Amino acid sequence: MNYSTLLTEVKNGTCIVTINRPDKLNALNKQVFTDLENVIDYINSDSEIKSAVLTGAGDKAFVAGADISEFASLNRKEAEELSRRGQMIFFKIENSSKPIIAAVNGFALGGGCELAMACHFRLCSTNAKFGQPEVNLGLIPGYGGTQRLTKLIGKGKSMELHMTGNFMNAEEAYHYHLVNYVTEPEELLNKAFELIKSIHSKAPVAISKVIHAINAAETENGNNGFEIEINGFGDCFETEDLKEGASAFMEKRKPVFKGK
Ligand code: COA
Repeated sequence: MNYSTLLTEVKNGTCIVTINRPDKLNALNKQVFTDLENVIDYINSDSEIKSAVLTGAGDKAFVAGADISEFASLNRKEAEELSRRGQMIFFKIENSSKPIIAAVNGFALGGGCELAMACHFRLCSTNAKFGQPEVNLGLIPGYGGTQRLTKLIGKGKSMELHMTGNFMNAEEAYHYHLVNYVTEPEELLNKAFELIKSIHSKAPVAISKVIHAINAAETENGNNGFEIEINGFGDCFETEDLKEGASAFMEKRKPVFKGK
């Protein structure tokens, strides 16, 4: 598929999605949202694809936020619609049954930080900077930032970052568990592929159930994460992959998973 604001490449079962507006530091405009929504659907529907990595074009930014140039003309209703649409697309990423990892290669500000946080986990390069600087514009985040940053780094630090608009560097982001790994810029994708290689060697149904159950631990909409874990545990017992995994362990060999 072709996307006017994204580059995509499928390599060893991983779809590498690069947000490609480097002259605007990959800011999220309406077209990026449309393309992101379509690419997530494609990733989840194509059986050749087992995972995705999200990154930004150029060596400066992952995504420097929502495209501020689209803000000036919005009235309240349109602003709420934009926020709702952004949240819907980011929920789609968060609830993807295939793993989606953010490889943050520079600025991840505002909507960029929110996009990275919607991914299942994050790694970043040493030049990464994270923040929710919307207050500088007289605004608050609209794509889930107040919620996800608070859950990931805790209330006090989230309050501070949202109120000051200050940026976190890579070291601080690691300290506050916003990212799992920090690498040199040229090593970022290699580190992502190393982790993905490990994930690809596991049973895909089990991976999708893990995503579902862990996401349920974070929602407060009446979902009972423990019940979802019980269901997912039961679902795995209906797969051939579980029989294969258990047999392989007993026979002291590597399992060969088929995704069913
Ligand atoms: N929306 C629209 N355009 C953006 C953008 C955004 N969020 N972030 C950067 N750009 C554009 C700049 O306008 C500039 O375009 P131009 O060359 O046509 O003037 C280009 O990207 C390069 O950005 P610039 O500001 O010149 O780079 P810098 O290295 O001096 O500063 C940042 C980098 C990230 C600190 C700065 O661009 C910035 O503060 N961006 C906005 C961050 C933000 O508030 N995000 C939340 C939005 S809700």
